[in-house]
Amino acid sequence: MCGIIGYMGHRKASSILLKGLKHLEYRGYDSAGMATLSSKVEVRKDVGKIAELEKRLRFEEMEGEVGIGHTRWATHGRVTKENAHPHFSQNKKIYVVHNGIIENYQELRKFLKNNGFRFYSETDTEVIPNLIQYEMERGKNFEEACKAALKRLDGSFAVVIMHEGEEKLIAARRGSPLVIGVGDGEYFVASDIPAFLEFTKKVIFMYDWDFAVITKNGIKFYNLKEDREVERSIDVIDWDAEQARKGEFKHFMIKEILEQAETIQRAIMQDEDIVAAIVEEMKKAKGIFFVGCGSSYHACFAASYIFSKIANLHVNVMLASEFPNFKHFLTKETLVFAVSQSGETADVLEAVRAAKEKGSKVISITNVKGSSITRYSDSFLLLNAGPEICVLSTKTYTSQLALLTLLAYAYAGRYEEGRKRLKYLWNVVYNLTSRTSREMIKKLAEKLKNEEHLFVIGRGLQYATALEAALKIKEVSYIHAEAFAGGELKHGTIALIEDGTPCMVFVSEETEKEIISNAVEVKSRGGYIIGISPKNNDVFDFWIKVPECGVANPIVQIIPAQILAYQLAVLRGYDPDKPRNLAKSVTVK
Ligand code: AGP
Repeated sequence: MCGIIGYMGHRKASSILLKGLKHLEYRGYDSAGMATLSSKVEVRKDVGKIAELEKRLRFEEMEGEVGIGHTRWATHGRVTKENAHPHFSQNKKIYVVHNGIIENYQELRKFLKNNGFRFYSETDTEVIPNLIQYEMERGKNFEEACKAALKRLDGSFAVVIMHEGEEKLIAARRGSPLVIGVGDGEYFVASDIPAFLEFTKKVIFMYDWDFAVITKNGIKFYNLKEDREVERSIDVIDWDAEQARKGEFKHFMIKEILEQAETIQRAIMQDEDIVAAIVEEMKKAKGIFFVGCGSSYHACFAASYIFSKIANLHVNVMLASEFPNFKHFLTKETLVFAVSQSGETADVLEAVRAAKEKGSKVISITNVKGSSITRYSDSFLLLNAGPEICVLSTKTYTSQLALLTLLAYAYAGRYEEGRKRLKYLWNVVYNLTSRTSREMIKKLAEKLKNEEHLFVIGRGLQYATALEAALKIKEVSYIHAEAFAGGELKHGTIALIEDGTPCMVFVSEETEKEIISNAVEVKSRGGYIIGISPKNNDVFDFWIKVPECGVANPIVQIIPAQILAYQLAVLRGYDPDKPRNLAKSVTVK
């Protein structure tokens, strides 16, 4: 994620932008910059955190009452000054700040190069101002050129665009957040409300495909999908700072669930050399352990199937709290992967210490740079999911899965194939987290909200997903959800099934035949069958369609379960962000 902001009004833009960027820094902080418009546009940007750049670049000297700003988390292109935003067109007339991923940027770069354009950065963003220049050179005005250019983009974006010589900001979003603040004769546009909350509480939430033309006389809204002008209402918000960070969402849990289209993509943006070095360590190792707790353990469990399938590699998976019972097997040639979102979980840290005592190598996968686990590890990979505020792990779980899947492909010598398969998930996850999907799942939540017990079954990769789905539902709605391998039901658990007992069934093409027969066993004893499956089936009483994604099924299939867990909690009157008895990071044993 990156943080973007724009200002149009009667105050010094650079001061407003600087304050806003400091509120957005949690979204990315490897470089930052801003552009302001007075007689001409001035740009100041570089690598570094905002506070350091504020001193070195002296943003406050920048003149003008119109401006755009950006704080970056690198996705395409290294952390360099050239890759920092704002980006500008070849004729230096058009300036853009962008959050998101332009999936067809290589094709657009090629098109523009064939039309005489040259690029100074490695970013996907740089195609945007040049596409606009290309359209303006063919007779379109700035506004129409922006519409034409944005329609050519695939992927996700939130942008704020400026044209030298015009007191006008263009703001547009598709798949990345963007919200407008309405002041007294001034306008703010940013990734998150905290960026301008101190200046106004009048907010316009933009919808996907919205395109806003902001001038000192007001705002016009278009929707690029419907290709027509639209009306957007102003909400007056009475939020405190915490709610402001939730933005348009009631809880962090749903906000973070909806970030997954983007965070999964960030998880696979890894330094290839580091990944290659880790693969080398894996190939040298005699015995590999994956350890974690809770959702992180479920990610490790899923990874064991993925490595088995993709890399033909057997890995040992262990609950971190149980790991010390096996430390006598560890040698200097053992490799231990410690998986922990927080990087502070006491059980995981103890497992890491046990491994280090035996001279084993430790590689950690975490979301928090500088966390204890990274300090004890020989090397580490970061999930780059941004802060996860909700106690429940949602976006970091799918980020762990994405990263571990990429690692399995890298081990098999199929890194690019893995990246392509995981990049494809953006659309699938975006649709699974759409309003339509959430409304459909809410109907199921209404049906289940008074249940005491819920069973979850799956086979193969889907068994790991069943474990994670059950945990989500348990820890946030307090419904007793229990997961089983489909093949285990007949060994005892099926005795629990009564008339109407709900049973969620995760189905993949590979396991369909056997898991459906397990579902039929449950149904014939009165069970209510909820199918999470690529195809419908007569045995399902409720069907949630999730496209078949092969080894990426654990990533996509958990999303409806996350949404269901959230909606059950809300319907049962609980706070999804702060479930009883739980802590975000269990730093005690
Ligand atoms: C997940 O929803 C839970 N909050 C919990 O199981 C969590 O996954 C576990 O405590 C491990 O945390 P970690 O990933 O920070 O180590």
